[in-house]
Amino acid sequence: MEKDPIAVIDFGSQYTQLIVRRIRELGYYSKLYQPGELRETGKPAVVVLSGGPRSTLEDGAPDIDFDYLKGMGVPVLGVCYGMQLLNQKFGGSVAPGNKREFGRATLKNESSGNCIFSGMSETSQIWMSHSDTVENLPEGTKVLARNDDGVPVALKWAEGFYGIQFHPEVSHSTEGNQLLKNFVNMGSDLPDFEIASFKDHLVQRVRDEVNGRKVVCGVSGGVDSSVLAALLHEAEVDTRNIFVDTGLLRKNEAEEVVSLFESFGIPIETIDASEKFLTALKGKTDPEEKRRIIGRLFVEIFFDAVGDDVELLAQGTLYPDVIESATSGSIASTIKTHHNRVDKIMELKSEGRVLEPLDELFKDEVRALGRVLGLPAKVVNRHPFPGPGLAVRCPGEVTEEKLKIIRDADKIFIDLLHEHGQYDNVWQAYAALIPVKTVGVKGDERCYEFALSIRAVTSEDAMTAEWAQLPYEVLGDISNKILNEVDGVNRVLYDISTKPPASIEWE
Ligand code: XMP
Repeated sequence: MEKDPIAVIDFGSQYTQLIVRRIRELGYYSKLYQPGELRETGKPAVVVLSGGPRSTLEDGAPDIDFDYLKGMGVPVLGVCYGMQLLNQKFGGSVAPGNKREFGRATLKNESSGNCIFSGMSETSQIWMSHSDTVENLPEGTKVLARNDDGVPVALKWAEGFYGIQFHPEVSHSTEGNQLLKNFVNMGSDLPDFEIASFKDHLVQRVRDEVNGRKVVCGVSGGVDSSVLAALLHEAEVDTRNIFVDTGLLRKNEAEEVVSLFESFGIPIETIDASEKFLTALKGKTDPEEKRRIIGRLFVEIFFDAVGDDVELLAQGTLYPDVIESATSGSIASTIKTHHNRVDKIMELKSEGRVLEPLDELFKDEVRALGRVLGLPAKVVNRHPFPGPGLAVRCPGEVTEEKLKIIRDADKIFIDLLHEHGQYDNVWQAYAALIPVKTVGVKGDERCYEFALSIRAVTSEDAMTAEWAQLPYEVLGDISNKILNEVDGVNRVLYDISTKPPASIEWE
């Protein structure tokens, strides 16, 4: 990539990475930087200052090197916190808010065709989430739009400096994409983002970073590690691919993973550790303890196999994982420990012995990369699968009996989603066992068997999710087939919980 990416400066809003994503969706390369990294952005075509949870009025509030920013001579867009900060920097003021204004509002465009609003309606829905507001506007500031209450929600200060008091990156801001597009197009010499040429950049990056070292790569059959293995293969890197069968995988998954890699001419070593995992999980019911046990054992088994003197460990860490681990206060990083960030791996990382070439990409971009690398649709379109596997879909103690039920039901569910053409319409779908036995009737006899939950969600990034509105006839088919064919289940429930408050997985 010769041109520097469009810089999005992260002031900590939960939506910040969406700005990066939206800009990439427009076809331009964009990356997130911390406020202190402004000088490291090079020569970006435009700069966006994101929103954030803090107040610009607080002591120690995140700041920006304004002189340097002005000196860059490129268009700048401040979003919420970014707008308030810019207003202060230009000599205006910010008033503290008593409560957070959160939700939909209406934007009234007063810009008379100012180019940041070109092609947009006179009124449109916007999504707001802020408490402070700009108060005194510096002389010469133009108000480009207001909300219903007449409060300025879009400003223009000096040439090229804009601020908006709403989130254009959120889909509830109905014309948000148009605004971002207008803004980005004010930059000159924009960096194109196109996955086929990005692949060449990644192949080169891998070769440079590997630099003759031997690589080990843990593969799981999931999209990320498969794309990673295919990328290493494309870069002709000497790699040992290790697949740890935890026994917590879906039905036939281990065999399928091996045959996929073989068909690609990529050698793979399988370690069957299912007994070890099941034994370690015996009697354990606490969700976090189960996760910790699995994470620790996985790392132990993996490093037993590869030895401690790994020259370079390749991981399929994605951009959101990196951002989430880096952003303090990130919800995702505090809710669940990410298995790519355990101590042993962090230690290798600090020694420069971890290769994470997918760390600039979002999930859908990884899928596109997989397609460019020639991976079959079945692999690249695969739903995400959690590191701790079926254990997080088996609340309470994990036993082989329960795992078999989950595997059998899951296979029926997923096969039927494919058959009904619904698989690609959902982000993720799976069966989870509810550790409660309920009364039913089978073959004229009373039975006392487990209840099973099936869950299908739509989502953009797994940070939030909606339950998928699958047609009743599809749900009916799934339920009938599970009840007829899976021993040990006499009740099927469809999970209609959104995230938040529910998470996607049960544990
Ligand atoms: P939750 O349950 O937190 O899941 O809403 C969000 C997404 O992350 C996946 N997930 C994991 N992925 N290691 C992973 O690689 C994990 O420990 C893990 N836990 C959850 C989950 O399947 C969903 O896509």
